[in-house]
Amino acid sequence: MARKIIIDTDPGQDDAVAILLALASPELELLGITCVAGNVPLELTAKNARIVCELAGRPETRVFAGCDRPLRRKLVTAEHVHGKTGLDGIALPDPTMPLQDQHAVDFLIETLRAEPSGTVTLCPIAPLTNIATAFERAPDIIPRIQEIVLMGGAYFEVGNITPTAEFNIYVDPEAAKIVFGAGVPLTVMPLDVTHKALTTRARVEAFRYLPGRVGPAVASWTDFFERFDKEKYGSDGAPLHDPCTIAYLLKPELFKGRDINVEIETVSDLTLGMSVADWWRVTDRPANARFIGDVDADGFFALLLDRIARL
Ligand code: RIB
Ligand code: CA
Repeated sequence: MARKIIIDTDPGQDDAVAILLALASPELELLGITCVAGNVPLELTAKNARIVCELAGRPETRVFAGCDRPLRRKLVTAEHVHGKTGLDGIALPDPTMPLQDQHAVDFLIETLRAEPSGTVTLCPIAPLTNIATAFERAPDIIPRIQEIVLMGGAYFEVGNITPTAEFNIYVDPEAAKIVFGAGVPLTVMPLDVTHKALTTRARVEAFRYLPGRVGPAVASWTDFFERFDKEKYGSDGAPLHDPCTIAYLLKPELFKGRDINVEIETVSDLTLGMSVADWWRVTDRPANARFIGDVDADGFFALLLDRIARL
């Protein structure tokens, strides 16, 4: 029986690779893709999600547009990382598949009420505005969620958008506080682990020389996407942040982490959006998250290549 998932996303090249990995993996049943404003505005994230589905040859995938701004703050976007389209790197045709009429938040609520309790996993790889809005509007869905596996936060790696905050959390810290405090089984892929899932020339070339259109598209996206991290961190390549969530669902043994307490800073201007991870358990705050710190990078890229090659 395939595991039912919903991906909440702001494509973004790394989101795109996460979506492709999910679509290529029969172990997963993608019930829908819910889009949110983040890397680029909502209109573009909803368009990009459909571009990726059509690239994968899966135009029947249901894509929903959700919240176009954070709960209580102005939207902060990341064109400096992802380019003005959010999917810079290769020119792909505009989508012809439709956007669903239903709002993403209504889809999340309706689906979690309709599916048997404990059978749907949420994979947020973007600011958590859609998820938090659904929780605020329909708290009855919270105990029905099997697990949340999200990309966001940082501890040892500290911030990528401010000195202390990771982008997905920083854009909507109030939403993140709601999600981290909801009591749902939560697995977190912070920068601590995603910065170890780095592309290299050899890994990118392996995608480029895959037959078909998908591998070369992934290579062109990472060629574009890597320049930000190479410049900032002097790293070898691009961290494939978002695919870590899907890879964890497919091969959790590739990852290592700890069950700890993680709180979100929503007050201090200096550290707004910081994910305060009690990695060394120095407080008596209860564990609310499996915080992942390590990945077998070779195993991760082998999985990614094997699956992308199937599209
Ligand atoms: O900080 C990395 C995260 O922010 C990733 O999800 C990337 O797509 C951007 O949304
Ligand atoms: Ca993302």
